Amino acid sequence: MREVAIVAAGMTHFGELWGASLRDLFVEAAQGALTAAGTDHLDAIYVGNMSAGQFVGQEHLGPLMADHLGMAGVPSVRVESACASGGVALRTAFLEVASGASDLVLAAGVEKMNDGADVTAILATASDQETEVYHGATFPGLYALIARAHMAAHGTTEEDLAWVSVKNHRHGALNERAQFQRELTTDQVLSSALVSEPLRLLHCSPVSDGAAAVLVCPLDQASKYTDHPVVIRGTAMATASLALTDRRDMAFLDSVAASGARAYEMAGIGPEQVDVAEVHDCFSIAEICCIEALGFAPLGEGRHCARTGETALGGRIPVNTSGGLKSKGHPVGATGIAQAVELFEQLTGASGDRQVHGAEFGLAQNMGGTGASSVVHIFQAV
Ligand code: COA
Repeated sequence: MREVAIVAAGMTHFGELWGASLRDLFVEAAQGALTAAGTDHLDAIYVGNMSAGQFVGQEHLGPLMADHLGMAGVPSVRVESACASGGVALRTAFLEVASGASDLVLAAGVEKMNDGADVTAILATASDQETEVYHGATFPGLYALIARAHMAAHGTTEEDLAWVSVKNHRHGALNERAQFQRELTTDQVLSSALVSEPLRLLHCSPVSDGAAAVLVCPLDQASKYTDHPVVIRGTAMATASLALTDRRDMAFLDSVAASGARAYEMAGIGPEQVDVAEVHDCFSIAEICCIEALGFAPLGEGRHCARTGETALGGRIPVNTSGGLKSKGHPVGATGIAQAVELFEQLTGASGDRQVHGAEFGLAQNMGGTGASSVVHIFQAV
């Protein structure tokens, strides 16, 4: 396989973007990456998207997005793995370039969730229809079950969960593209409206619109586009049962651990060498489960990390410096690519007030559903 690098990135603001359509968002992010690389040529396009068909009634995104980018004729296809669609689009682009089939590929993600659709019901289609949705389960409800299981197994408290939101909003307050650029206190989180006990409004990622894009090419061609490429050292995906009830342990995300282990092996590093990470904090409990499964904290100890500052900017392993899904926003199909954008900027020293100084290795973990799919990328500054 050829070595593959990210050479440019683009991203829209995340939030309730009433003035922009799905295709407008995609073009803004993709054009940002193309302009940064100084090129108007692509060999292929992958569009990460969970459910534009349900959110805005639009399928067949590949040709639509290529056409609106002025690239009709270029191979272009949608990639879907629920909320991991963006991460899987990046992995697909990596494989196409690594294999030698293409030299310059756009991996993008886009979602428009605020167009009046029944968001909670649409998102729930990524969980098990027969054993979960039919019985009334929603994603806040399913993650509440995970939180309860973690509390029972490890003594995790509602305050531990609140600290994850406080930490990520502190980071998001420094990110001009974040949906919520304001700090929170634990009291505000713990007194916010109950959504699904023990999860409250301020434990949840919001409903968001947005798009993100990165350009990948062989490392030995990267100098055509940038002086600061970021190499993709590891990429791995794993799956687990869709239904929580079929899991060995509801409080442990097997797919995250497996995708992380494979990515570490491919990159030839361990968790202790990662300098900065973006993980899938769709609900505050998810960040705690993910950092444990990825080896950033021992099992049962992840609950302390936000409170102690270990996962905050300036801490041992800063997690979700972008603000994470909680504060930056979670336009589901765009999230995995937005994580790559954050790490591309961190590893090229372009993160401003959020910069992790001297960062060499970054890890992105993106998952679908309650962890039925998980994809991990490890990036290195060169
Ligand atoms: N975090 C912080 N603030 C939020 C928020 C969130 N997650 N969601 C909404 N808000 C704010 C809104 O901006 C609004 O503030 P304002 O009154 O100052 O304008 C206020 O809270 C009420 O917003 P509203 O849109 O009425 O909330 P809602 O009750 O419709 O939705 C949730 C709240 C938590 C139910 C919704 O955000 C949600 O479903 N989140 C989870 C999404 C999800 O499951 N994603 C997939 C994960 S796998």
